[in-house]
Order: sequence, then structure tokens, then C-alpha cells
Amino acid sequence: MKRINHASLKPYNTFGFDVIADELIEFNSEEELISILEKTNSSHKLILGGGSNVCLTKNIDGLVLLNKIQGVEITHKNEDQVTIAFGAGENWHEMVLWTLDNGFGGLENLSLIPGNIGTAPMQNIGAYGVEIKDVFESLEAIDVKSLQKRTFSNDECQFGYRESVFKNIYKDQFIITKVSFNLSARNHKIKADYGDIQKVLEERGVTKPTIKDISNAVISIRQSKLPDPKEIGNSGSFFKNPVISKVEFEEVKKNHPNVVAYPFGEEIKVSAGWLIDRAGWKGYREGNVGVHGKQALVLVHYGNGKGREIIDLAQKIIQDIKDKYNITLVPEVNIL
Ligand code: FAD
Ligand code: EPU
Repeated sequence: MKRINHASLKPYNTFGFDVIADELIEFNSEEELISILEKTNSSHKLILGGGSNVCLTKNIDGLVLLNKIQGVEITHKNEDQVTIAFGAGENWHEMVLWTLDNGFGGLENLSLIPGNIGTAPMQNIGAYGVEIKDVFESLEAIDVKSLQKRTFSNDECQFGYRESVFKNIYKDQFIITKVSFNLSARNHKIKADYGDIQKVLEERGVTKPTIKDISNAVISIRQSKLPDPKEIGNSGSFFKNPVISKVEFEEVKKNHPNVVAYPFGEEIKVSAGWLIDRAGWKGYREGNVGVHGKQALVLVHYGNGKGREIIDLAQKIIQDIKDKYNITLVPEVNIL
């Protein structure tokens, strides 16, 4: 168990903001976590995984817990399906690669998403036509007040677009320690119809894609447009794609007939990247922060800046998008 007083969180968030935490403790098991929670006097506790979906705007007057719980266990298997439980501190992408190397399908479209296994349910991570709710079996979490363990089923997590109970009604109440997925062991369902996947497969001469082909295509598309946090600070999409009614959408289309959007149940999901791009923000820089030049939904930190600068830039973008399209953008990133 690693413990640091007055710790810089710069290495622990992909924006690279240098805020200080009173105390930082890494835990490697559920037992260690419970023991830390039993002993701490700190009223403010923040749990972090890979720090790839947070914007840290101030010092943390309290305890930061770093989840390092490892482990992979096949808990059920038949010819068609396998259930696998992962320790919450395992790296997401490394585990996706592990499933592919073992011939298990379901996570391939979610390749190369940064962060930990245990954080994936927080916002029901999604990409290239798949969300974790499609393959999620259950999770285990510790209630930070009662220290009791609770299991959540897929339904109990109330997954939505970048949403779950852990982001709203149970915010800051549970620490996720284990996540299980149901994956296919054969007859994999290949999902190649989203975005540029099909185009990349054609360029590579792949006519009957395997789950590994899909993963490789997704990796190369992501690398072509998303900034690598090791090179430039960012947290992926800063805003969610706004979901609006069909009536509101018709209003937007009157002045912007080319607006990019997708059906979303009875409503319409509008591409926030398109709105921000067409409003002229792509590649914009203001001091230490800016808007990525290849994907306008990603705000970037060039170094030596503060989380507050990102928030100020985000506010300007929100106001401009409201003025130009009458649409209110909502941050996806957790602002702390
Ligand atoms: P952190 O940033 O450490 O934590 C995020 C939130 O979850 C915080 O509020 C934290 O307190 C809480 N939390 C962390 N661990 C736990 C736990 N064990 N129990 C309870 N709460 C916890 N997301 C997508 O959905 N799709 C994408 O395609 C995508 N692409 C990205 C690309 C880039 C380049 C980057 C930087 C980010 C991207 N993201 C994407 C966002 C991010 O990778 C995911 O949200 C990821 O799941 C965050 O994991 P993390 O461990 O880094 O979370
Ligand atoms: N677009 C532009 N300009 C831009 C960006 C996008 O015009 O600068 C338009 C283009 O028409 C493009 C379309 O928007 O074809 C969609 O862009 P993209 O495929 O990059 O997807 P996105 O909607 O911007 C979402 C997720 C990503 C996820 C991708 C792929 C959200 C908030 N973001 O982005 O998730 O990887 O789809 O599925 O839903 C994240 O959550 O951090 C994240 C990166």
C-alpha cells in the first residue's frame, strides 16, 4: 500500500493539472480499501482510476484513493459464452486486448479507451456503436459510509448515454471494486457499420473481419483523430453530444441544413463536434489551453495551465453554441 502526504496529482490525471492532495493512498484489494476507510478521519474522499475523465480545478483538501485492484477470473463458461470478472484497477485497454487474445468477443469496438475497468460503468463508456451496457453482467462496490459490499446488476446501474446511477443518485457513494462482463466465445457479433470502420477494413482488404480486425481498425481511427494524453493533456470528449427533441432539431436545421445528427430513440443526438467545429473553435488556442485541431469536442492542455482555464474556455464555447444554435452543451468530464 503506497501512501504520500501532500501529493501532486499531475501524474494521475490525463489533463496533467498540477493540483495537490492532502493525502494519496493506493489500495490493492477490497480489504485494504475497507481498512483505509475505517481508519481515515478525512471527510473528503476522492477515488481515482486512470484520471482520464476528470478536470481538476483545485487542490483536494482530503484523501485521494487510487484503485490498483488487479485480477482476471473466468467465472462461467460454456461453448457460446463466457463471464469474466476483472479487478477494478486493471487497465481497460490491456484487458480488452486480453479478451481478444483469448478469442472472446464483445469489447473490440471499445479498444484504446483510456482508464480503468472499475471506472467504465461510471459513464457506461461507449465508442463505435457499442456501450459497456451491451455486455455488462454485474459489478461489486463498497458503500463508503456503511463499508458494506453491494452487487449491482445491469438494470440496477440504470445505464444511459454516458450515464449511470454512480454519476447521479449514488454520486460519491460507492467505490467499484470488481466488474463482470458476458462475452461471446464463438459466433461473435461483428459490428462494423459505425463511422469509418468499414472504410478502414476495405482499405486493408479485409472482407470477413475478425474481432481482432475490428479492434485494429478502431485503434487506427482513434489514433488519427484523438490526441494521445502522453503527448498533450486532454480528457477525451469534453462535452456530451446533446440530445434534443425533433421539433428543436427542425429549428436548428432551418439555419444549418448540414448539421450532423443521429436518431436517438424518439429524440435526436446532435454532433457537438460538428457544432463547435462549424462555430469556428477547432484549433483555437487561448494561453495554455485550447480546442484540438482534429476533433473539436476535445479540449486540450498544452502544459503549465490550470483546470480553471479549461472551465473558462468551456464556458465561452457553451455560450457561443447557445447563441448560434440555441443548444446547451453539457460537460461529459467530471469537474472537481
Ligand atoms: P477517472 O478519471 O479516474 O475517474 C472518472 C470518475 O469516476 C471520477 O469522478 C472518479 O471519482 C470516478 N471513479 C473512478 N474510479 C472509480 C471507482 N472504482 N468507483 C467509483 N467511482 C470511480 N470515454 C468513452 O466513453 N468513450 C471514448 O471513446 C473515450 N475516449 C477517450 C479518449 C481519450 C484520449 C481520453 C483521454 C478519454 C476518453 N474517454 C472516453 C473518457 C475516459 O477514458 C473514460 O471515461 C474512462 O472510463 C475513465 O476512466 P478512468 O479510470 O481514467 O476514470
Ligand atoms: N465532427 C465534425 N468536426 C469535428 C468533430 C466531429 O464535423 O471536429 C462531425 C463529423 O461529421 C464526424 C461526426 O461529427 O463524422 C462524429 O465524430 P466522431 O466519430 O469523432 O464522434 P463524436 O460524436 O465526436 C463520440 C464520442 C467519443 C467516441 C466517438 C466514437 C461522445 C461525447 N463522444 O464522439 O467518445 O470515441 O463518438 O464512437 O459521445 C469520449 O467520450 O471521451 C469520447 C472520445
